[in-house]
Amino acid sequence: MFHKTPDIAEVFERFGEGSEVVIRGWVYRIFKVGGKVFAWVRDHSGYIQVVFDKSYVASDWDAVEKLTRESSVEVKGVVRVDARAPGGKEIVASNLIVYGYSPPFPIKGGEDIEYLLNVRHLWLRSRHMIALLKIKHTAIQALRDWLVKDGWWETTPPILTGSAVEGGATLFEVKYFDKTAYLSQSAQLYLEVLIFPLNKVWALTPSFRAEKSRTRRHLSEYWHLEVEAAWYDMEDMMKVAEDMVSYAVAKILEERKEELKLLNRDTTKLEKALETPYPKITYDEAIQILQKKGFNLKWGDDYGADEEKALTEEFEVPFFVTHFPKHIKAFYMKEDPKRPEVVLGFDLLAPEGYGEIIGGSQREDDYEKLYNRIISEGLNYQDYEWYLDLRKYGSVPHSGFGLGVERLVMWVSGIDHIRDAIPFPRWRGRIYP
Ligand code: 4AD
Ligand code: MG
Repeated sequence: MFHKTPDIAEVFERFGEGSEVVIRGWVYRIFKVGGKVFAWVRDHSGYIQVVFDKSYVASDWDAVEKLTRESSVEVKGVVRVDARAPGGKEIVASNLIVYGYSPPFPIKGGEDIEYLLNVRHLWLRSRHMIALLKIKHTAIQALRDWLVKDGWWETTPPILTGSAVEGGATLFEVKYFDKTAYLSQSAQLYLEVLIFPLNKVWALTPSFRAEKSRTRRHLSEYWHLEVEAAWYDMEDMMKVAEDMVSYAVAKILEERKEELKLLNRDTTKLEKALETPYPKITYDEAIQILQKKGFNLKWGDDYGADEEKALTEEFEVPFFVTHFPKHIKAFYMKEDPKRPEVVLGFDLLAPEGYGEIIGGSQREDDYEKLYNRIISEGLNYQDYEWYLDLRKYGSVPHSGFGLGVERLVMWVSGIDHIRDAIPFPRWRGRIYP
C-alpha cells in the first residue's frame, strides 16, 4: 500500500535539524569514506545526501554495503544541517529498506549519443533528461493556461485520418481493416470543422511526418499544439502566437530556473522574448536578406534550415516571416486579395539559429478558390468534399496555426538537437524502445 513520504525537495524546505524523516528514491551516487557510506538519493524533486554510519543504522549493515547506483530505497533518518552536504542538509540514516538492487548501471558517463539512445529507457533518469522533461511539462502547462484564460475550447481530433493535410510526401500509411488510412500530420482540417460549433478551438495531439532525412529539428512523431478560430484574420492569429509564446517563455523562466541553469541556458537571451510584438518581415524581405548574405536564391524559391538559421542572425527575438509565394505553401492558405501570387501565411522563427517553431495562416474561405487549389495541386477532390462543405454552409473568415512543442522546448532549453525534447524520439530508422 502506498503511504506518502515527503519529496526530497520538501525535506530541504520543511524539515530542520533533528527532525525525523522517511524518504524514498533511487541511489544516484555512492561513495565510501572511513567506514561510512554516503549515498545521494534522488526522486523527481531533487537529491539529498544520506549518511550511513554503522553505529546509527539499526537495520542490516550488509544491505548498506551492497547498495549500488540506481538501487531503489526507503531511508529513515534524522535531518542534519551541514554546509558540506549538497544543498546544505543531509540525512543521517537509522534504517534502510532496499526495494530493488541494481546491477552495475550501463551508463557511467562519457558514452556517445548512439550508445545513450540504445539505453534511452535508463538514460531518462539523468539530470539532463529530467530537466528537459520538466521544462516540457511547464511549456505545455503554460500554453494550455494561456488558451483556457483566453476562452479557447480544448478538443480531441482524430489521429487516424483519411486524407493528407501537409502533402503526400511525408504521409505515413497504415492498414485500416481493408482500407488504407494515414497517421495525422496535423489536426488543422478537423479543427476548422470544430470552429463552427465552438468558434475558438485548440488541440494538442501527436503529429506524424515521414521525413526522409535526419536533421537536428525533425522527428517523425512530434507533439503539435494547434489553434483555429472563426473571425480571426492573419494579424489576429499572429498576435495569438506571440502572446502564447511569450507567456510560455515567462512561465518557464519563472518556474524552471534550476533546470535552465543545469542546462547552462543563457537566460538573458531568452528574456528578450518576453516583450511583444515580435518583428515581422515578409517573404520578399527574407529573400533580399538572404541574397545579401550570399545565398543563391530567387523569388519563388522555398528555403530550408540553413537559410532560416541565417535569417535568425538578424534578430535577437522570435520573428515572423509572412506572405509566401502561393506555390510553396499548402493548398488551404488564403490568397492575398491584394497580391494573388502570395498567401496570407506566416511562420514564427525562434532566434539563435533555431528557426521555425510555428506555421500558420488565414484559410481560404472561398469555395471556388479552394476547389481550384485542390484540383490544381492534383489532390483527390472526393477526399476533401467535407472540407469544402465548410465553405458552402456559412463560410467564415478564419485562421489558425500549429506549434511544434519540441521545437519550442529545444529553443527555450538551448539544446542543439530535438531528440532530447521528447523522451522517446522517432526518426527514420529509429523506433526503439
Ligand atoms: O508548418 P507545419 O507543417 O504546419 C501545419 O502542419 C499546419 N497544418 C498547422 C496549422 O496551421 N494548424 O507544422 C507546424 C509546426 C512547425 O512550425 C514545427 O514547429 C512543427 O509543427 N513541425 C515539426 N516538429 C518536429 N518534427 C517535424 N518533423 C515537424 N514538422 C513540423
Ligand atoms: Mg511549416
